[in-house]
Amino acid sequence: MDALATLIDWLRIPSISSDPAHNGDTRRAAEFAAQLLANLDHVELIEAPGRHPLVYADFLHAAGRPTLLFYGHYDVQPPEPLNEWHSPPFEPAIRRDPHLPGDNLYARGSADDKGLALTLIWAVRQMLEERGSLPVNVRFLIEGEEESGGEHIEQFVATHPERLAADAAVIADTEMFAPELPTLCVGLRGIIYGEIHVEGARTDLHSGVYGGAAPNPLQAMAEIITALKDHNGHITIPGFYERVSPPSPLERAAWARLPFDEAAYLAREVGSPELTGEPEIALFERLWARPTFEVHGIRGGFIGEGAKTVIPARAVAKVSFRLVADQQPAEAVEQIRQAIAAATPRGVRAKFELLHAAAPSLVDASNRYVQAAAQAMTDTFSAETVFTRSGGSIPVVGLFDQHLHIPSIMLGFGLPDDNLHAPNEKLYLPNFFRGIDATRRLMDRIGSFSI
Ligand code: BES
Ligand code: MN
Ligand code: MN
Repeated sequence: MDALATLIDWLRIPSISSDPAHNGDTRRAAEFAAQLLANLDHVELIEAPGRHPLVYADFLHAAGRPTLLFYGHYDVQPPEPLNEWHSPPFEPAIRRDPHLPGDNLYARGSADDKGLALTLIWAVRQMLEERGSLPVNVRFLIEGEEESGGEHIEQFVATHPERLAADAAVIADTEMFAPELPTLCVGLRGIIYGEIHVEGARTDLHSGVYGGAAPNPLQAMAEIITALKDHNGHITIPGFYERVSPPSPLERAAWARLPFDEAAYLAREVGSPELTGEPEIALFERLWARPTFEVHGIRGGFIGEGAKTVIPARAVAKVSFRLVADQQPAEAVEQIRQAIAAATPRGVRAKFELLHAAAPSLVDASNRYVQAAAQAMTDTFSAETVFTRSGGSIPVVGLFDQHLHIPSIMLGFGLPDDNLHAPNEKLYLPNFFRGIDATRRLMDRIGSFSI
């Protein structure tokens, strides 16, 4: 079967890792990946109780040559809202957009991340078929919990670093800055995701009879939230910026040269009346090198049809903070807890429940593995590779740095309009094939290194 048909079959499996109703599908997607890696030496589903399996495989026959650790994830985000999809999320469909010459493959997981993970897998399969050998040693680690906390991989990397010994990691889970512009991502934000719980009265109360005496947890929640970030998007948690390290003058200058139309970004990608955030800080620095605080949802009180006069007894807000180098998740969580305590009005109790956290990462672009990747990308696209960062998070990059002490090459082939996590996620198919090509070129280049 060819690469595209294989991808389409993989995408039909709704491997939504956060939804226990899809545990069977998530496992099937892992088994599918293991099957694709069957022509390597050791293929294994690594299990842990209550966790989605890790798919591991290796092929270690290039004595004296570097070892690459290939990473991707087979889990996907939930597809909701379903009514906004033009074709069903798990029935892959090929359509063309007027503004680009190639086809798009629409499906949940096409760009995040099955399509990109498959570029790595397919490059290795092709090379092995054609040559019977590889120019480098390779290990694969494909996880199924990237979109839902990633406890399994965190525990595995921390406890079995020897099983992942490598010289560099190759991460296929990022995007290019623009179509036809080969991009290497060298920085990611970290994340702290949690819930703020606020409790007031014993039970919901009549707002006429008790209003004026009983505290309102939703009002308290609003006060807490607005105490954490000001109108200019500046986080007001004491100490939060102390470890934030600004981009170098060289990096800033490179970002300023990126081909970018802010008006088009505002109109087509964001679609709000204007862009917000810290006014004195340039856009890419706000997106890539500054921490954020976002509220994702607030639950509490009455939200049904019509009117109901009630003072809710409790409220919950789902929130996250993005962190940048050199912020430390554990320290930031402490700062957040203290700021919430200080902002909690009288009459209610508030607490922060941590769901998951990941450290930010910054890769030294001058190391020879990243440079080889830049060359491979340049050769594939016949254009000079640019170095960017991304505002998103890939927890494993920090884990590989911390436990394996290796740099990560972030070879991404998504595009800014791929609708990651949103309705109508798609993959630009020419990039899928160029991803395979670039991965082969990367292996050949690194295969000429001696270690
Ligand atoms: N692949 C994305 C992260 C990403 C997106 C990096 C675009 C670079 C460009 C990844 O699957 C993702 O969505 N990560 C989550 C992290 C999480 C749930 C811990 C994120 O960033 O929200
Ligand atoms: Mn991803
Ligand atoms: Mn994602």
